[in-house]
Amino acid sequence: MPRFEPLRLGVNIDHVATIRNARGGAHPDPLRAAELAVAAGADGITAHLREDRRHIRDADIDRLKAELTVPLNFEMAATREMVAIALRHRPHAACIVPERREERTTEGGLDAAGQIANLRPIVDELGAAGIRVSLFIAPDPRQIEAATELGAPVVELHTGTYCEAHESGADAFAAETHRLVEAARHGAAAGLEIHAGHGLSYDTVGPVAAIAAVRELNIGHFLIGEAVFVGLEASIRRMRVAMDEARGFGQNRIDPIHQTVR
Ligand code: PXP
Repeated sequence: MPRFEPLRLGVNIDHVATIRNARGGAHPDPLRAAELAVAAGADGITAHLREDRRHIRDADIDRLKAELTVPLNFEMAATREMVAIALRHRPHAACIVPERREERTTEGGLDAAGQIANLRPIVDELGAAGIRVSLFIAPDPRQIEAATELGAPVVELHTGTYCEAHESGADAFAAETHRLVEAARHGAAAGLEIHAGHGLSYDTVGPVAAIAAVRELNIGHFLIGEAVFVGLEASIRRMRVAMDEARGFGQNRIDPIHQTVR
């Protein structure tokens, strides 16, 4: 029987900045959203400073780092510019993500296995500065092995394909859930801390939250979208309940292997 450690929720506030930037000005303020998220049960705040600054800007990172009372997870591309910014701010964690200018969102995981030589100095430099490095990878054994080889302490498993499979029927969803379960076990057995995220919603969070090896989920777009209807605190509180219930701290517990409620 796997042991269930508490599951942390990192709330990604990028899309508060997307809305702000649609009109210029300062409203809605991502820092205010971050503070509300913490009040609603977020254990950490995640923000992605993209090369094109399409949502989060440098000044947002300055303010988040100065004001937040919870860990900041700084999402960044593997570039010298972003390494310099991370070293200046020393966030609790840095999650290295693939980034292409033309993409709408982070499509797919980092090819850690194909970029060992490029990633090694970055992982080493951030780690030496006391920043907890995470690699955002597909739930793929090759990528887990590359993360281990690089000495990254954490991997975040990309749940985008898993969430898309939810729309494609039960068999596809079961297959993608199985991939995540296997990758989480494999990574944890190799000594990695396992996080997961991308595209998660109330409908898809349960089976991922029920994987004992998963220690943190990072969720953004759905929560900010849902906040339009119910408010940010309510949208996050409901996610927290869904996570805790799946984890076995609520009424139901989802079987982490067979993904059934028992
Ligand atoms: N984790 C990582 C590494 C991401 O890049 C993103 C999206 O920026 C998320 C989690 C959150 O994804 P979503 O906004 O779809 O919940």
